Amino acid sequence: MDRQSSLNGSAGGGECATTHNDHWPAIRAQFPLIHGGGTGELDQHPLTFLDSAASSQKPQRVIDRISHYYAHEHANIHRGLYGLSEQATAAFEQAREVVAEFIGAAHSSEVIFTRGCTEAINLVASSWGGSSLVSADDELILSVAEHHANIVPWQMLQQRQPFTIRFVPITPAGQLDLPAFRRMLSPKVKLVSLAHVSNVLGWVNPVAEIVEAAHAVGAKVLIDGAQAVPHQRVNVSELGADFYTFSAHKMCGSTGTGVLWGSRSVLEAMPPYQGGGDMILTVSETGFKSADLPHKFEAGTPHIAGVLALAEAAEFLNDVHAVVDVAAHSRGLALECMAGLAGHSHINVCHGQVGNMTGEDWQGIISLYHSKIHAHDLACFLDSRGVCVRAGHHCAMPLHHALGVPATLRISPYLYNTSAEIQQVLKALREAEEFFGTH
Ligand code: ALA
Repeated sequence: MDRQSSLNGSAGGGECATTHNDHWPAIRAQFPLIHGGGTGELDQHPLTFLDSAASSQKPQRVIDRISHYYAHEHANIHRGLYGLSEQATAAFEQAREVVAEFIGAAHSSEVIFTRGCTEAINLVASSWGGSSLVSADDELILSVAEHHANIVPWQMLQQRQPFTIRFVPITPAGQLDLPAFRRMLSPKVKLVSLAHVSNVLGWVNPVAEIVEAAHAVGAKVLIDGAQAVPHQRVNVSELGADFYTFSAHKMCGSTGTGVLWGSRSVLEAMPPYQGGGDMILTVSETGFKSADLPHKFEAGTPHIAGVLALAEAAEFLNDVHAVVDVAAHSRGLALECMAGLAGHSHINVCHGQVGNMTGEDWQGIISLYHSKIHAHDLACFLDSRGVCVRAGHHCAMPLHHALGVPATLRISPYLYNTSAEIQQVLKALREAEEFFGTH
């Protein structure tokens, strides 16, 4: 079935996007792993996949795009003087155009393909940071709520050269403490690097406000968009940051693929990141001359199939966004879950009161801890009921330190999840309390 028509087929013409319309079953039906159920132990229970903040499932059209490339289109790109290679090159560069349009980039040359959001931040740390954070007076501002991918690359750089890292604290509900952030700004700050959306708590940071305040003191801004791009339309030109990073695998694409977007003038001034084929104009025994953007930052044979799949995922999400509100859907399911959790006396939700979480500044990721059952034990019990969630520190140890808990259980709904699945996780949590004798 044609995927676009499968989304539009059940709609009345011009129907408003809402969280309660007929499109959701058609969207869900496109995900074979979700629609077809799981394997092994999961077969005893319907698969309830609520770990999409870790990695989303894939629609059939993305899976098909990868297969089609390997079955019919594969050759190395930017190298071959034969038709197959030239067609693969054209498809790869066309994917760059699709991704550029998807994120509102002014030029496709501002889209650098990487192995993921993590590599994109490492690229900026190594290249921009290596040449811009060069004295103890130079400051980098992060927050305690960052994923390790937006902490460790900077700490590794700090092992090589002196500069200062400062962390914005969080409020009791886990939101970025904006007044504290503003107080930290000064001309010493060279870069502010923050998540668009927290991977643990789902809070959406006010990027426009952050960018305006940082630019006012002459600082550049990097936004880690790994958790935002899967759910909301992102326009990097409107956001106004200097760098924006995300991964394909959380937005229905392939693992091993991601994007660094940077404004052209900033990227042009940066030295290359990795050396090798494709990133040079000339090489001699005494040195090399870098290629122009975007190839300057894409050394070696890239994940061609992953990039094609990323473009397919972007087009899938464009189709979805045209008929439904993904962010509102995820938030609605998470709010339903929050309401159900209110009856569990030992369950503590890290964000505070549900009344705080109904607005667009919350994306619908729930992290909780049980006062008597460790998050890992809870997650293993939920797995025995077919429910997939993540437990642990979610690559955010400083945040868990600030929250005062070593581990949480995270429930992260996405566009294929249903109210019935939220009821399933609530039921499984009640059963866990009975099993561990804590109810
Ligand atoms: N960053 C991913 C997560 O939050 C892996 O689970």
